[in-house]
Amino acid sequence: MIEFSNVSKRYENGTRALENVSLNIERGEFAFIVGSSGAGKSTLIKLMLREEKPTSGIIHVNGFNLNKIKRRQIPKFRRTLGVVFQDFRLIPYMTAYDNVAFALRVTNVSSKDIRRRVPYVLGLVGLASKARIVPDKLSGGEQQRVALARALVNNPDLIIADEPTGNIDPELSFEIVELLHEINKMGTTIVMVTHEHELVSHFNHRVITIENGTVVSDTPEYQEEAGDYL
Ligand SMILES: Nc1ncnc2c1ncn2[C@@H]1O[C@H](COP(=O)(O)OP(=O)(O)OP(=O)(O)O)[C@@H](O)[C@H]1O
Ligand SMILES: [Mg+2]
Repeated sequence: MIEFSNVSKRYENGTRALENVSLNIERGEFAFIVGSSGAGKSTLIKLMLREEKPTSGIIHVNGFNLNKIKRRQIPKFRRTLGVVFQDFRLIPYMTAYDNVAFALRVTNVSSKDIRRRVPYVLGLVGLASKARIVPDKLSGGEQQRVALARALVNNPDLIIADEPTGNIDPELSFEIVELLHEINKMGTTIVMVTHEHELVSHFNHRVITIENGTVVSDTPEYQEEAGDYL
């Protein structure tokens, strides 16, 4: 689903953010991306979203070759993904409902489908009763759940989240990751950048560690084997 082959990224000011990164994330996986500040995590995410282009190397995401994708195909590519950011990026004057519905309206989904789909995803994230409220009257965790509902509403195969719990309390962070965990169990691939070691160790998922622009460790999800407890 995501394939990086020998990807390097040097920014225009000369900063080498990624050096020769190769990795594969398969359909259905849940991968945490960890590493210290400045390690290159957000750069990796921006390359996945085609917000940045690699200096060298090849990137495939969700069936698109991001080296060859044409500018006019980029919106179509992005609609195949759900994206969640640390700072939520909700539209302040729109209700929770409209923030989520907006993601569908821009893709020409029928009003009938919008009226069916939006309440469904708001229910999934536990916000059915807050549909008519604007973001600044919601808590941080609730705002992040609206952002998650918006990422889910197009039914994407892949969700990419860069520190989705960076601006919320630890208890709410668990809730958000628990939700992502449930969504992953239903088949959606998840890539999540985080600083929070507690979150990573609480959930048994693949952990890719980036330091100084390279992958320094990659531990798969722990598979329980029959013999382990004998
Ligand atoms: N647009 C840019 N132009 C130049 N340098 C950049 C740019 N964006 C990031 N960098 C640099 O690239 C390196 C990697 O940055 P990146 O944002 O990928 O780190 P990160 O792992 O996400 O860090 P954090 O945990 O603090 O978010 C850093 O040295 C950073 O200063
Ligand atoms: Mg970052």
